[in-house]
Parts: sequence; C-alpha cells; structure tokens
Amino acid sequence: MTQQNHPPLDHRPLADYSMLDPHVQADPFPFYSKLHSECPVYRMPETGMYMITRYDDLREVLRDTETFSSDVRSQGGLQGDVARILEDTLKEKGWAHVQTLQRTDPPQHTRYRELLKRVFTGRRVKDLTPRIDALTHELIDRFAQRGSCEFISEFALPFPGIIIAEQIGLDPSEIDRFKRWADAMLAPATRVLDETEMRAVAETELEAQHYLAEVFESRRREPRDDIISALVNAEIEGEQPLSVHELQSLMHQLITGGYETTTSALAHGMWLIVRHPDQAQQVREDPTLLNNFIEETLRFEGPVQGLARQTTRDVEMHGTVIPKGSMVIVRYGAGNRDESQFPNAGTFDIHRERAVTHMAFGVGVHSCIGALLARQELRSAYRALLERLHDIELARPLPDPVTQSSLFFVSIEEMHLKFHT
Ligand code: HEM
Repeated sequence: MTQQNHPPLDHRPLADYSMLDPHVQADPFPFYSKLHSECPVYRMPETGMYMITRYDDLREVLRDTETFSSDVRSQGGLQGDVARILEDTLKEKGWAHVQTLQRTDPPQHTRYRELLKRVFTGRRVKDLTPRIDALTHELIDRFAQRGSCEFISEFALPFPGIIIAEQIGLDPSEIDRFKRWADAMLAPATRVLDETEMRAVAETELEAQHYLAEVFESRRREPRDDIISALVNAEIEGEQPLSVHELQSLMHQLITGGYETTTSALAHGMWLIVRHPDQAQQVREDPTLLNNFIEETLRFEGPVQGLARQTTRDVEMHGTVIPKGSMVIVRYGAGNRDESQFPNAGTFDIHRERAVTHMAFGVGVHSCIGALLARQELRSAYRALLERLHDIELARPLPDPVTQSSLFFVSIEEMHLKFHT
C-alpha cells in the first residue's frame, strides 16, 4: 500500500509563483508540475535566470557541456560586490579560490575527475564501511533509551560530518569546529550575505585553509589511510601533482558537497519514514527493499534541488531563446517529479521501478563523485535506525516552512522524534 501524495490541484497562474518565496522553495512540487506542462524553459522574472525542469531536457542540457558551462564565474554568484571581501581576504592571507572540478568543463574537468576517481573507489568505501556502521550505532546508543531525540543535531548532522572530518584528519570531538567551517564555506552559495557576514565567512574559511595546509604537508610526508592522503598524493603519470591552491579548492568541494547534502538526505528520508510508516515497516521486514527505499527517498525529495550552468552561446529550447551568458538553473528536483519518466511522480513508492534513474546525484560528467560513499552512509544509517527504532513519530510539528530557504538546497533544521525501542 502506498499513500497518495499528489500536489493539490493548483489553479494559480504562473505569475503568482516565485522561486524566491521560502514557501515555494520548501514545497516546490506544485510549481514544478505547472512548469512541466506550461513552461519548460522558465525565465525567473526576479533574477533573469532560466530554469529547466523536464527530465529529458535536463539530460540534454547536462550532457552538452560546451553550451551549458559549469564555469559560472562571470555571474558573480548570489553575492555581487560583497564577494570581493572573501576573495581579497583569501588572496591576502590564505589561498585564493581557483576553479577546479565542479566549476570546470572538459577537458580541464577530466583531469580533476581522473584524480578524484582514484580517491573515491569502491574499495575505499568498502574499507570504510565497518567504521560507518559502528558510528551509526554509537550515535543511536546516545539517545535510544530516552525514547526521543532531535534527529538533526543528534544524528543527521554528526553522522556524515564525523565521517568526512575523520577523513581529513580531525578528531570526532572537533565536529563543532568542522561544522563551522562547512557552514561558512556553504553560505556564499546559498544565501545573500551582508558585509559583516562575509567577513566572518572569510575568517572562518581562512582558519580551515590553514589547518588543511598543515595536514597536506604532513600527509605528503607520512600518508595515512584516509581521503586527504590519497588526494595529496594522487598523480597522473607525466603530470604535475595537485598544487596547494587546487587541493584547497577540492577540499572545499568535498566538504560542501559531502556534508550538508547527506545530512539533508537523512532528514528527508526520516521524514518520509514518519509519513509512511507502512512502507518503513515493509523495509524492516524485508531488508532487500532497503536500496530501492533509498533511491526513492532521493528521487522524491533530493537535497540538491538545482544547480547553475552558464550558456556559452545563444541556444533555443522549446521556442525560447536563452541568450549567451545567461545563468541556467538545472532543476534536478523537478526532473525527479517528471511524470513522463516517473508515472505518479507525486507518490512515494518504495517499490517504484527505475527509481534509481533519478537525478539526485546529477547527470553526465559532473555526476556526484561521492555517490558511492553517500549511498553506503544512507544504507548503514537507515538499516540501523529501522532495526532499532519503532513507531517513529514527530514529537512536535516541523517548522513552517519545513526547509530552510535556499534557491538550490533544501535542509530541515529541526526534527523532534519519539519512538519505541
Ligand atoms: C546524498 C548525498 C549527496 C547528494 C544528493 C549529492 C548531490 C550531488 C549532485 C547533484 C552533484 C552534481 C553537481 C553538478 O551537476 O554540477 C554532485 C557532485 C559532486 N558531489 Fe555530491 N552529493 C552527495 C554526497 C556527496 C559526498 C558524500 C561527497 C564527497 C565526500 C560529494 C562530493 C561531490 C563532488 C566533489 C561533486 C562534483 C563532481 C564533479 O563536478 O565532477 N557528494 N553531488
């Protein structure tokens, strides 16, 4: 039995919606389905950015890296002139940002990707799995007897945070420090900052950079069995090893790409467990359903709703000309609700066929390099949570709007749960 979860019929005209409205960001699905049928290439009137929402269009755009570039530098992101404060501070006292991996196109991207592939291997994830499993249980042990928890701060945040922090040489007790770094690194990409906030972000990122630079040095001399050692020592024959600037940039992407995303996936998965106890029970009774449960949670409410590309030429789609130099938002979250790919897309169904064809990890050359690790973290977490916690319910209503406001990411700040063990 699946519960119906269709967006309510909505007769409002498109002009009544704004992607900048926090309530639309928290529940964008009625808007997406309107865009699917009425306006597949939508120009956001507030920003002039274009949004692509249909599954097939997204695949086309994401594969055409010549036209839709990941190097969106000239747009200055969300911050306008205030961005200079960050760049100047890093240049003066640390390492200025350089474009690597996610912000590059082939062939430059290919080199970074090759190096990272040597770091994020199936073998590494397999070797890490006992630690991932043990950490899951350690965290659950801290609250299980209480019969209640605040799921975000007691599980969803520390779990992926500790895994990455350990991989870059921090002690699990330094998780608060690491969270501060990750928040500061992510802030400029997610919300508009004033000068004071940007200065604080710059100081915190500097602290992270100086810490990391020391770790690079020490892992070059004495490699350990962690991701940072593999990265520092990764080499392609006949090419220069990664410079400290490049390493700083890659670490920035691993921290911002691997932390909050996994936290948000766990939060949304848990919220789906609360809303669909019958399906959660089926996974408890038949663990072979676990993998598809995970893929369906990622399809249904993926953490990365959209990201940016920039056009390198005028390009026409569905009769709309997107001018050269435009910012294009590739809306993975909308592709995942496209009826043509996922019939009854608004229904959460752990038995869905081809749930795994979702776009929550992106598509094409930039698709998530950490997906193997993320999937293992989610598997270990849900297996233990479902085994050990029963009758899981919200102990208080979720905040309104449920997710924190951002154009690209969705994250739940607080989720008080009660349960039986
Ligand atoms: C559930 C968790 C995760 C989700 C939903 C997610 C989502 C994504 C998405 C949508 C992209 C595509 C970016 C684009 O199109 O420009 C991406 C790329 C990336 N992800 Fe993840 N991610 C997750 C976990 C992780 C983890 C655990 C790591 C590493 C520790 C990571 C590191 C990266 C990096 C470095 C890229 C850039 C790859 C490239 O440009 O070649 N992610 N991720």
